Amino acid sequence: MSPQDLKAEYQALQDEIHYHNYRYHVLNDPLISDPEFDQMLKRLRAIEAEHPEWVTPDSPTQRAGAEPLEAFEKVTHPAPILSLANAFDEQDLRDWHARIARLDDRVLDADFTVEPKLDGLTVVLHYRDGIFVQGATRGNGEVGEDITENLRTINALPLRIPVGSQKIPVPDVLVVRGEVLITKADFEELNRRLTEAGQKTYLNPRNTAAGSLRQLDSRSTAQRPLTLLVYAIVHHEGGEIPATQWETLNYLQALGFPVSEASTHCPTLEDAVRLSMATDPNAFPFEVDGMVIKVNDLGLAEDLGYVGKDPRGAIAYKFPAQEVTTKLNEIGVNVGRTGVITPYAILEPVEIGGVVVKQATLHNFDFIQEKDIRVGDRVLVKRAGEVIPYVIGPIVDVRTGGEQPYSPPKTCPSCGEPIINPEGEVAYYCTNSACPAQLVRNLEHFVSRGAMDIVGLGINTVDQLVQAGLVTDIADLYSLDVPALLKLEGFAQKKAENLVSAIQSSKEQPLARLITGLGIRGVGEVAAQALAERYPDLDALSRATRAEIEAIEGFGPNIADSIVEWFNNEKNQAVLGKLKGRGVWPKAELRQQTGPQPLAGLNFVITGTLPNLSRSEAKNLIEGHGGKVTGSVSGSTDYLLLGEAPGSKLDHAQKRGIPTLSEVDLRQLITDRSA
Ligand code: IVH
Repeated sequence: MSPQDLKAEYQALQDEIHYHNYRYHVLNDPLISDPEFDQMLKRLRAIEAEHPEWVTPDSPTQRAGAEPLEAFEKVTHPAPILSLANAFDEQDLRDWHARIARLDDRVLDADFTVEPKLDGLTVVLHYRDGIFVQGATRGNGEVGEDITENLRTINALPLRIPVGSQKIPVPDVLVVRGEVLITKADFEELNRRLTEAGQKTYLNPRNTAAGSLRQLDSRSTAQRPLTLLVYAIVHHEGGEIPATQWETLNYLQALGFPVSEASTHCPTLEDAVRLSMATDPNAFPFEVDGMVIKVNDLGLAEDLGYVGKDPRGAIAYKFPAQEVTTKLNEIGVNVGRTGVITPYAILEPVEIGGVVVKQATLHNFDFIQEKDIRVGDRVLVKRAGEVIPYVIGPIVDVRTGGEQPYSPPKTCPSCGEPIINPEGEVAYYCTNSACPAQLVRNLEHFVSRGAMDIVGLGINTVDQLVQAGLVTDIADLYSLDVPALLKLEGFAQKKAENLVSAIQSSKEQPLARLITGLGIRGVGEVAAQALAERYPDLDALSRATRAEIEAIEGFGPNIADSIVEWFNNEKNQAVLGKLKGRGVWPKAELRQQTGPQPLAGLNFVITGTLPNLSRSEAKNLIEGHGGKVTGSVSGSTDYLLLGEAPGSKLDHAQKRGIPTLSEVDLRQLITDRSA
């Protein structure tokens, strides 16, 4: 190949890699597989090895990080990097609007944008002739630090604009403002890996992103899952830029920058206020601490001027805090179903996002030790969405010296028997299998919706039954009768009859539900379903060997061990004997593999809670009719089976235009395709 041809190939390959990088990291919609991408990058590296003189800083290979720096250089921003005034409620927003309308009556007819207030690190990105040449931190707003090499490692940051084949003119100099972030999912994954490696975990995505950008060695920055969203043009020379904020966002997006999908153009203040107040802080894949309302007309915004460092033309509506600090008064412990003892924090009551929080989880005893959490500490507590409030860590700087280090209890708070912490395990256990606290948890699990689904048997009743000595294991539920229940507080004839009847009807539940209900460590609904497909009843499962179970898809050695151990346990055998004697002995309905396969060739993904079917029952229904169920939405997904409170799978499906089905639709589909 002639050098000219090679150079042409090299340049075309660069463009292609930039484009596929953009499809993957900005659009989240890759066109090619990871190995194909890696193959291209490999070829590019090979050419660069032959012609190092061709390599420019905007080559895709330059994202891996460069030689460590001694220190960061200072960068003077081409225009001040301003801050934002805050609003905490609707009235603040209306006051802001009234204030700026008094200054300029064009505000009365103004339109607005509403954008998420990204809780990351502000960065200022310089492009010269469309090439990323410099990136800086905000610093004091006038002068920041040059973190170009660190920013170059961020895959979502375009090294060259416009990305792809669009012919959009770019000013000679374009300086863009944005935020560097870590998504919540990437943050959790990062901490999960650190925990696995026995290393210290990070406090939150923001601090982690900040620390990553401060690395003098950009090769370590390249290892962190940083991403970027941009929202403003700070400066330009030559060419033209849009006159409104909404057009700016669209322009930046068209150039190939990552721009938040959650930004909205609002024709009136009313719309902007309503939208800002109605936005759920937890609805974003990254941390957002409020919504920014901006006057859309950038000329008007400029004319409105500044108060100190805050432009008048924009305001940040701050969400009620999700993280607060409070005093840790005491550490309590809970006994779980398998005897696992877990600590929780008893807090000085504190309001977080409109709810008074008195308790928060401390995860496990190792966590307390790792974070050096002491009784009496001020701790950072987070409450977000549906999750249980949790302690993030202590505020070490405000310690007074009176804080008490904590050690795990030696005996079970429920039964007083010794607690053990097996070598190499995080968990602490109560070893007494007759521990009443364990029994209560076991029963709760047995009767729960995903297991035997016995309606009318809530935690209080379970507690009463155990306290009264009426129930010493799950099988005892089936010998409860009306006269026995009538002795309990709050039980009248009707209620007692209903409960006995609910318990008796649960004998008809399918085998998978009974297996789930046994509470074998590691065996949830999905594993139980797989076992019920393999073994016709609990006798057969009792005889299963480790090797046999390990041969089932999705079963590893730990879960196989746990199952075999459970069935070898004498007490469990006694419980099984009682269950059988009382007629709680379902036989598996074998899968209709020979029947019609109306869903053959179709791929399904399930999200949310379905009205009648559990996850595994839905999976079984689909697979029983020849369909396939996968865990995540992809190009080959045909339908999304959609229940209440769906997850992000719904967004993915909608983006790809994949149709959704309700449970009823699914049954209809089966009927239609069977005809
Ligand atoms: S606009 C004149 N828009 O929040 C423009 N800022 O607390 C002023 N921030 O310093 C900023 N998301 O770093 C703007 N969508 C967004 C933002 C945003 C996050 C940051 C920004 C600012 C800080 C103010």
